Amino acid sequence: MAEEAASMLSRNPVFAALGTTRAVRRFSPDPVSRDMVEALVWAATRAASPENDQPWEFVVVTDPARRAEIGRLVSAAADMHAASLPPTEDPSVRRSQESAKHLVRNFGDTPVMIFVCHHVIDYPEAYAAVGVGFSAVFMAAANILAAARSLGLGAAFTFSHMLAGPDLPRLLGLPDDVAITVTIPVGWPAGPVGPVSRRPYHEVLHWDRFGS
Ligand SMILES: Cc1cc2nc3c(=O)[nH]c(=O)nc-3n(C[C@H](O)[C@H](O)[C@H](O)COP(=O)(O)O)c2cc1C
Repeated sequence: MAEEAASMLSRNPVFAALGTTRAVRRFSPDPVSRDMVEALVWAATRAASPENDQPWEFVVVTDPARRAEIGRLVSAAADMHAASLPPTEDPSVRRSQESAKHLVRNFGDTPVMIFVCHHVIDYPEAYAAVGVGFSAVFMAAANILAAARSLGLGAAFTFSHMLAGPDLPRLLGLPDDVAITVTIPVGWPAGPVGPVSRRPYHEVLHWDRFGS
């Protein structure tokens, strides 16, 4: 990598946050301030969306009784979730699976639960085929992950709501045309957060033509 690019990566805070935006699923019980949560939702709502339609809504749960209730719904599916994980010999995948299982079993202990929802918009067929509605909301979710990391918080992109079943939208009071897309548990990380482990960028970068 050229010197200028390397220096940009090491000094720029956005790049620094992106390089350590791991999936954090073990949290300390310390509370997260409302201001920080609002900053995360601000970051989410800066994301791009098709024709700027901003099809998102964010339901944030911090109330202990409500978190416990949601935790019971998610954890009830813990055995099913564990059984669905493919067998692996790869230690890093195994660690990730163990951490995912921990989250499902202890979901109710998550200090802040952000349910990133989308309005079910009737996109033209060509748009719908490529999942445009979901993509927009995923952009917002990705902003939350990076913003959380930049504040020292931990978060993870999950589909935990799918484990909770149909009682969850009811519990959150979602109208019929609003559905949960991504569930982001947020809290102070219980341990150190290291850099992400990804394929080297130069292996997947193709200048002008694939393969070169
Ligand atoms: C589309 C998508 C779906 C994911 N679903 C889940 C999930 O349901 N539960 C979970 O614990 N993590 C989930 N993850 C997080 C990934 O497992 C995690 O990012 C990956 O294992 C790499 O780990 P790292 O980000 O800590 O490097 C998901 C990530 C993405 C992008």
